[in-house]
Amino acid sequence: MFWWAPFLLFQLQPLVDIPDKNPYSSANDIAQGKRLYMGRCAGCHGPTGDGGKGANLAVPKLPRASEDRALYRIIRFGIPDTEMPGSLMDNHELWQTAAFVRTLGRLESAPVTGNAQAGEKIFKTTGGCLNCHALGSQGGNIGPTLTGIGARRSSAHLKAKILDPASSVPDQFRLVQITTKAGKSLRGIRVNEDTFSIQLRDANGNFQSVWKDEIAKLVSEKKTNMPAYKGRLSDEQINDLVAFLSGQKGDQ
Ligand code: HEC
Ligand code: HEC
Repeated sequence: MFWWAPFLLFQLQPLVDIPDKNPYSSANDIAQGKRLYMGRCAGCHGPTGDGGKGANLAVPKLPRASEDRALYRIIRFGIPDTEMPGSLMDNHELWQTAAFVRTLGRLESAPVTGNAQAGEKIFKTTGGCLNCHALGSQGGNIGPTLTGIGARRSSAHLKAKILDPASSVPDQFRLVQITTKAGKSLRGIRVNEDTFSIQLRDANGNFQSVWKDEIAKLVSEKKTNMPAYKGRLSDEQINDLVAFLSGQKGDQ
């Protein structure tokens, strides 16, 4: 009888008694955590925590996991209704992974040298960034909103993105080229996709929907609509922009 009781206890125990502070954060735990992270998390969050599909983990303060206990719970249970999965690691491994995740946030402290005020001016005038990006209530929608970007992305990521946007393009902003069976061709950002159709947003910001069974050819480009600013803006101007964007932490 109750053969499942030990299992149930194993499942419940950390729930009723998750410590506030990570009990496993020695150098050795961090090294183990790194190994676990590289195997299980880096595919989505990137080896340095600030890339790809997952949320940026290379920030000084994780929006949903500023406390160790919250971080533990996210790694263990995932975030419902998002791509963030739960994990079947044991208690010790969960904490070790959490300990390593904390080190990603500390890597970030590369000093931001630019002048944020000058950066704001470039952003709103010569840079032309508002043509495609929203910030607060201003700007366009070809690219993702940059409201609060400083809390989501590290300064290193921001700089890399401005210099050479093609270096890392999230899946949802991939440019695709579609040729339909009727011979029509379309090009735009894939904003949505389900079993039957694909929705694109073209360079003018117009939405187009195509049925999949009408598609003859689909080419996904590792390209982005975002222009590279390397050579178009000086190093100083780019640092100023990074300083301005890094300071965008709130909802405005
Ligand atoms: C399949 C992709 C995927 C994998 C694998 C994955 N994550 Fe995530 N993770 C995400 C996504 C997507 C989000 C953002 C969810 C959202 O808010 O939409 C996220 C969010 C998070 C957050 C919350 C950050 C915050 O405060 O906003 C943490 C912490 C996290 N992941 C850690 C991990 C760790 C540690 C691992 C490995 C054990 C891992 N993730 C594996 C996709 C993934
Ligand atoms: C012609 C449209 C366009 C212009 C102009 C443009 N961007 Fe972008 N930007 C995009 C698109 C589309 C993406 C999303 C695809 C990608 O990540 O490459 C993007 C992505 C970004 C990202 C990454 C956001 C994230 O969540 O990681 C940053 C940062 C950014 N742009 C900053 C800027 C800045 C700063 C300027 C002005 C100097 C600028 N962009 C000008 C279209 C544009």
